Amino acid sequence: MIRVAKLSKTYRGASGAVHALREVDLDVARGEFFVLLGPSGSGKTTLLRSVAGLERPDGGEIEVGGHAAFSSERKLFVPAEERGVGMVFQSYAIWPHLTVFENVALPLTQGKKRLARERVRQRVADALKLVGMEEYAARPAPLLSGGQQQRVALARALAIDPEVLLMDEPLSNLDARLREEVRVKIKAVARELRVTVLYVTHDQVEAMTLADRIAVMADGRILQAGAPDELYRRPASPRVAEFFGAINWLRGEARGGVVETEIGALRLAVDGAAPGRIVVGVRPEDVKLSAARAEADNVLVGEVRSAVFTGGEFLYDIEVNGKLLLARAMSDREALKGTVFVHLPSARMALFREDPS
Ligand SMILES: Nc1ncnc2c1ncn2[C@@H]1O[C@H](COP(=O)(O)OP(=O)(O)O)[C@@H](O)[C@H]1O
Ligand SMILES: [Mg+2]
Repeated sequence: MIRVAKLSKTYRGASGAVHALREVDLDVARGEFFVLLGPSGSGKTTLLRSVAGLERPDGGEIEVGGHAAFSSERKLFVPAEERGVGMVFQSYAIWPHLTVFENVALPLTQGKKRLARERVRQRVADALKLVGMEEYAARPAPLLSGGQQQRVALARALAIDPEVLLMDEPLSNLDARLREEVRVKIKAVARELRVTVLYVTHDQVEAMTLADRIAVMADGRILQAGAPDELYRRPASPRVAEFFGAINWLRGEARGGVVETEIGALRLAVDGAAPGRIVVGVRPEDVKLSAARAEADNVLVGEVRSAVFTGGEFLYDIEVNGKLLLARAMSDREALKGTVFVHLPSARMALFREDPS
């Protein structure tokens, strides 16, 4: 539905060149909810605006809905209003002097694709119903809460009946409660309409709760794309792993099937790789603690340095051979104290070669 190939964009200013996109490839299937996740400045907005037709890339290709939308080689640039995309931005971009109805109707009554009045009325009513705002049609826009204004912005994007919905951090101006409300609405509407969504955020939790697939971006590149659990469980690099929450890092040296780490020898599937410097990542929930020694590989002895009760679970600092490991465990029992056994299941550890550089 959306295909991006070797897309490049460089901004040149007084302070030099910024490579916002470096030969980015992306494929989003029809009906997929696809999230671009990355820190500020990683190129997410530039990529989204390029797909929308609001930005002219320097090189590469873009296809939307099976039609070429941009090609540097063929000198092709299809204008935004002809790409069949709806957009929702971080700022609601709602006109304060118009009612809710008039705001949603705007894209249907302006430009080339003007619709007859009765069609407009129907489309606006349908779009407002989708976002649960049909009661508010006559309301002046400034009298709405932030969450309601963003739902109106979503209705306006949906009113044109787009094949593709593009959203750039649509929740970031909302407080936590409204963010949740609008997030649920966006997911429900996307499901119901089976519209293809390309959604930008810097928030890992937002990405994981919304996405069928996520592409992690940094420095104008896609580091890895995949389903949320795939990125979480099998990150392609430490950088991607860091993106998806806390992780313990252990440095070590691979020798056969064993990695000599800073906390002791661990048995790991190093499968025939050449010996060398390695870094092992293990998530806090995969650091298994017990008062009695487990019959397994990779069981070490540690000391509980602190245990914090967070409601459903305990967060532990465990000292193992001089290094502190973060561990997370259900709080259905008393917190562990003193000396504990620390089991690191090999299947739960991610192995990376340390960069030779
Ligand atoms: N119009 C512009 N002029 C100059 N530099 C820009 C412009 N837009 C974006 N950039 C730069 O391009 C890089 C990527 O920006 P952007 O796509 O907005 O990232 P993100 O949305 O991930 O925060 C940043 O370094 C940003 O400062
Ligand atoms: Mg941005």
